[in-house]
Amino acid sequence: MKRALSLAASVLGLALAGGSTAALADGQDYVTITRGQYLATAGDCVSCHTAPGGKPFAGGRGIMTPFGVIYTPNITPDRETGLGAWSNDDFVAAMQHGVGKDGELLYPALPYPYYTKVTRTDLVAIKAYLDTLDPVRNEAPPNGLPFPLNIRTALMGWNMLFFTPGEFQPVAGKSDEWNRGAYLVEGLGHCGACHTPKNALGGDKGDKVLAGGVLDEWTAPNLGGDLRTGLGAWSTEDIVQYLKTGRNAKSAASGPMAEVVYYSTQHMTDADLKAMATYLKDRAGAPAPVAPQPVAATDPVMQAGLAIYQDNCSACHVSSGEGIARLFPALKGSAVVQADEPETLVRVVVQGTRAAATRAAPTGPGMPAFDWKLSDAQVASLLTYIRNAWGNAAAPVSADTVKKIHGRLTDTAATP
Ligand code: HEC
Ligand code: HEC
Ligand code: HEC
Repeated sequence: MKRALSLAASVLGLALAGGSTAALADGQDYVTITRGQYLATAGDCVSCHTAPGGKPFAGGRGIMTPFGVIYTPNITPDRETGLGAWSNDDFVAAMQHGVGKDGELLYPALPYPYYTKVTRTDLVAIKAYLDTLDPVRNEAPPNGLPFPLNIRTALMGWNMLFFTPGEFQPVAGKSDEWNRGAYLVEGLGHCGACHTPKNALGGDKGDKVLAGGVLDEWTAPNLGGDLRTGLGAWSTEDIVQYLKTGRNAKSAASGPMAEVVYYSTQHMTDADLKAMATYLKDRAGAPAPVAPQPVAATDPVMQAGLAIYQDNCSACHVSSGEGIARLFPALKGSAVVQADEPETLVRVVVQGTRAAATRAAPTGPGMPAFDWKLSDAQVASLLTYIRNAWGNAAAPVSADTVKKIHGRLTDTAATP
C-alpha cells in the first residue's frame, strides 16, 4: 500500500514538475501538492523567481526597486543553493514574517507584507509543491544595493514602521465569496505591491490601499471605485475577463500586468477570479480625487495633439478614442489614460507594447513604437490631448515630464 502510494506520488511528481523523479516525503499527498501548485500560481512565484532564459523557480531575476536591484534566490529544492534544507517552519517564517533561514531579515521585494496574510496550511501546500520540482543548482548574483540599505538589520526599522504581520481574518457579515476574494487580493495575489502607492521608503501609503501606484515607469491604476481613474465603470464580468484573457472591451494588460495575467491570473479558476472581482467592486475604495477641469479643446496644445493623434493613432484607436473591442483598447474613459501618473502613457508611445498572449486569447495584438517619429514635445501634446479628449479629464503632460520618463526607460517593454 505504502509503495503503491509513493509510486503514484512520483508519477504525479513527474506530471507536476515536468521531469522530477524525486520521491515525495511523508505528509505530501496528491491533493496537497496539486493545491500547492495552484496556490503558487496564484502567488505568481515563478515570474520573480525565474531569470530571463533561466530554469523556472531557480531564481536570479533582478527586481528593480527605487533603491537598487535585488536578485531573487533559488526556490527549487537544491540543498546548497535552494530550499532543499528548509523546514516548513523556515518557509512560513520567510513568507509570513520576512525572516530568512539564518534569521536574517529579507527585503520586502519579496512581497511578505502581503504574503503574511496567507494561512500556514496554504503555505505548507506551496512548500510541498516546490519540493516536487527538480533541484537546480543556481546561486543568485549579489544585490546592487548601496550602503546602508545593504545592511539587512536596517529592515528592522522598516518592519516596525510599515509591516503588520498576521494571517487574513475573514470579515463577519461578508459572503464566503467576498472573503475568498479579499484573501486572494490582499494576500497571495499581492495586488497592492503594485497598485498601492508607496512612500519615500517604499512602504504602502496605508490610507491609499489599491489607489494606484507607479513601478519601474509603469502606472498601475486605481482599483477603487472611481469612475474616471478606477474600476467604477467596470462590471464584475469585465474584471474577470481582463484577469482571465488579458483584455476586455475597455482595456488590455501591458507590461507588469501582462506578466501577472500570463503567469498567474489566467490559470486561476473562474470562481476565484469572480471572488476577487466581487471583492474589488465592493471595496469602498480610496476617496475619489477631485476630477480636474479638462484642458479646453481650443487650447493650441490640444489642437497640436489632435493632429498628431489623427496621423499616428486613429488607425487603431479610432477618431472617437473608442478603440476596437478586445483588439485595440479604448482610450476614451480609460483609467490608464487618465491616471495622475503618466508613466505608462509615455512608455507605450515611446516603446510600443504588446498585450499578453493567453490561452483564451492566444495572439497578443501589438502597438508600434513612436520614438523614431515623435519628439518628446510632440508626445507631450499628444498625451495632453488623449487625457482631455472625448470626455476624458486629466492634468496636462509637459515636455519636461516626457523627457524625464523617457530618459529613465532603460529596459524594453518585455511582455511574455
Ligand atoms: C515581486 C517578486 C517576488 C514574488 C512575486 C515572489 N518572490 Fe520570493 N523573493 C523575492 C526576492 C527579491 C527575494 C529575496 C529577498 C532578499 O534577498 O532579502 C525573495 C525571497 C524568497 C524566499 C527566501 C529564500 C532565501 O533563500 O532566503 C522564499 C522562500 C521565497 N522568496 C518564496 C517565494 C514564494 C513561494 C513565492 C510565491 C508565493 C514568491 N517567493 C514570490 C521576490 C519575489
Ligand atoms: C507587478 C505589478 C502588478 C501586480 C502584482 C498587479 N498589477 Fe494590476 N496592473 C499593473 C499595471 C502596471 C497595470 C496597467 C497595465 C496597462 O497599462 O495596460 C495594471 C492594470 C490592472 C487592471 C486594469 C486597470 C485598468 O483600468 O485598465 C486591473 C483590473 C488590475 N491590474 C488588477 C490587478 C489585480 C486584481 C491584481 C492582483 C491579483 C493585480 N492587478 C496585480 C501592475 C500590477
Ligand atoms: C497598429 C495599431 C496601433 C497604433 C497605430 C497605436 N496603438 Fe496604441 N495600442 C495598440 C494595441 C494593440 C494596444 C494594447 C497593447 C497592450 O495592451 O500591450 C495599445 C495600447 C495603447 C495604450 C495603453 C492602453 C491600456 O489600456 O493599457 C495607450 C495609452 C495607447 N495605445 C495609445 C496610443 C497612442 C497615443 C497612439 C498614437 C501615437 C497609438 N496608441 C497608436 C495598437 C495601436
